[in-house]
Amino acid sequence: MSHDAEFLTVHRDGGIAVVTLDNPPVNALSAGVRKALWDAVDRLDADRDIRAVVLICAGRTFIAGADVREFGQPPVPPHLPDLVDHIEAAAKPWIAAIHGSALGGGFEIAMGCRFRVALSSARVGLPEVNLGIVPGASGTVRTPRLGGAAAAVELATSGRPWSAGKAQKAGLIDTVLEDDLLAGAVAFARAALDRPLPPPTSQREVGPMDDGFWDEARKTAARQGHQAPLRALDCIRFATEAPFAEAMAYERETFLELRASDEAAALRHVFFAERAAPRPAWLEGVTALPMRKVGVIGGGTMGAGIAAACRMAGLPVVLIERDGEALARGVANIDQTFAGAVSRGKLTDAARADLLAGVTGSTDYAALADCDLVIEAVFEEIGVKREVFAKLGQVCREDAVLATNTSYLDPRAIVAGMPHGRRFIGLHFFSPAHVMKLLEIVPTPETSDEVLATAFALARTLGKIPVRAGICEGFIGNRIFKRYRAEAEALLRQGVALADVDAAMRGFGFRMGPFEAQDLSGLDIAFLQREGARAAGQVIPDTLSDILVRAGRKGQKTGGGWYDYPAESRRPQVSRATAELLAPHVAAPQAMTVEAIAAHLVGAMADEGRDILADGIAASAADIDLVEIHGYGFPRWKGGPMFFAGIR
Ligand code: 3HC
Ligand code: NAI
Repeated sequence: MSHDAEFLTVHRDGGIAVVTLDNPPVNALSAGVRKALWDAVDRLDADRDIRAVVLICAGRTFIAGADVREFGQPPVPPHLPDLVDHIEAAAKPWIAAIHGSALGGGFEIAMGCRFRVALSSARVGLPEVNLGIVPGASGTVRTPRLGGAAAAVELATSGRPWSAGKAQKAGLIDTVLEDDLLAGAVAFARAALDRPLPPPTSQREVGPMDDGFWDEARKTAARQGHQAPLRALDCIRFATEAPFAEAMAYERETFLELRASDEAAALRHVFFAERAAPRPAWLEGVTALPMRKVGVIGGGTMGAGIAAACRMAGLPVVLIERDGEALARGVANIDQTFAGAVSRGKLTDAARADLLAGVTGSTDYAALADCDLVIEAVFEEIGVKREVFAKLGQVCREDAVLATNTSYLDPRAIVAGMPHGRRFIGLHFFSPAHVMKLLEIVPTPETSDEVLATAFALARTLGKIPVRAGICEGFIGNRIFKRYRAEAEALLRQGVALADVDAAMRGFGFRMGPFEAQDLSGLDIAFLQREGARAAGQVIPDTLSDILVRAGRKGQKTGGGWYDYPAESRRPQVSRATAELLAPHVAAPQAMTVEAIAAHLVGAMADEGRDILADGIAASAADIDLVEIHGYGFPRWKGGPMFFAGIR
């Protein structure tokens, strides 16, 4: 079969050829697709009956970009930049008809076309920086020529796509259609043939921008923490100042350099891990139970966040609290998350009211009778939790899934002796639960496959990244975090400065170092957990943070923890009080480079990850990487601790 027949069909509508590209799932530009498009240009140019060509795609989207799976391999001709040029140079004008997303190479192909029409629901963008690269087929060169430098900078450095409407305003799209893309595009093509053609994108002028614009753009791009956004900016600036061919050469050189970089390899690893996680192969063929209504027990920090996440995904929620006062507080907590979205412009007041109307609050567990899933998020005390699950057994449907959000308790102990085993599971959300993407799914040995599949389906509905975790203290994430904290404290004991440890981890790419992060979330949570274990007879020597908590230093909320936070400031200041409290426990000051500190701590995370794999707590190294990236702020461009340590 020729590549044409494999990937393209061509039909004629009067003098208009309609080329339909079909390369599921997202019409990525594999070598075969590139060849097929190249040949189609030649064939249609040679066809006297054809006056214009509409390029449209089958399936869920227009071309979503280069085929990322080819990135680890040597490039195969025809190369994408040449194909875009070839389409632009065609004797017959090509019109891109866009639905879904035109991303990266897909948008570059569209810009090589003489016109672009799009459904209003479509999006266009240059997400290459998310893969650690810059656009490599004229995105940084054609975008400023078509839509101006500001549009190019925003699209290529943020990686976030624009709606068709926004793109049209910038001149990147010619016409936006509400429906019937094909008919609209063909009609557009006919009308366009009656007028003089606009110049091809490569021949358009681009106005220079002043230094202030570039300085501002550089600051914004630098905030992303990795090199690709800054390099994309360099390419765009050069493209606004240099002739087309020179700008193309510079972009290509940058693209090829970055494609081979460690950052790009790491980001590709994360890209595929994130897409594999929601549908693990070992759940294939298992059907999830229906999910129409969710109950949440406890409207505190976690319960409110979980309820908000469910509402934002369209699920009705029943919230149960201890008494009327706690219920009112819980409902207010939920509404606060919606109010936050309104103030950020993400939600209208009407939508906020709708979301809240979908929350039924009650102090009577009988209100849970028709829930398909109930998630418990009450105090972290085994007695309280067991009482909750005993009640759930009485009021819930027999097929309702019952879940606990416990962080540290053994899920088996929560329902031990109850008849809930098969339908019981741990669903460990992260705070704030309506924002954080990670969901650790913790089945017990008794949990049925259907219930496990339902948990993964819930994650998909909520837009979360699910990772299956086995039962051990802290599951995957908190177990690694505990080791990380302990190793960071060990460095302090050796005489390394607190501020150097935090600076090292920020330098590595975390938003905060381990001590700043503890000050933010509060040192008392882990302290209380250790105290509980001590009370139960475990011998746990005092950690340095225990010494601080005993002295009343619990973190930002008490004005000081590892650092001082005078006058409710959130800026950590090195604390003399902390130094004095810890002085008897730390060695003489010892210099250690930030690189060595980061290598040591990330190495410790990977070591713990290795043990977690050996214990069967995580199914794969990639899962551990996802936990760290989506639950603990590990920089995604480093790929996660396991990828970073070369453990696959
Ligand atoms: N190459 C190869 N496979 C891709 C792909 C790509 N560019 N984009 C998506 N896929 C695959 C996914 O791995 C997944 O495969 P699976 O079903 O086997 O797991 C499948 O397509 C579906 O992907 P999603 O689950 O993400 O599907 P959605 O419908 O949720 O989203 C999408 C569709 C918005 C297109 C989303 O897939 C996406 O954002 N893709 C990435 C687009 C991208 O980064 N493009 C730029 C590539 S780099 C480039 O073009 C360089 C150029 O400038 C030279
Ligand atoms: P919280 O103290 O903020 O909220 C607990 C809520 O449960 C309170 O509103 C309380 O009134 C309610 N409650 C207590 N007993 C109840 C009962 N019998 N019936 C109904 N409601 C009851 O606690 P938080 O932080 O939300 O934690 C809840 C659970 O989530 C704990 O198991 C915790 O370990 C876990 N968790 C906490 C995280 C965090 O960052 N705070 C992260 C992940 C899990």
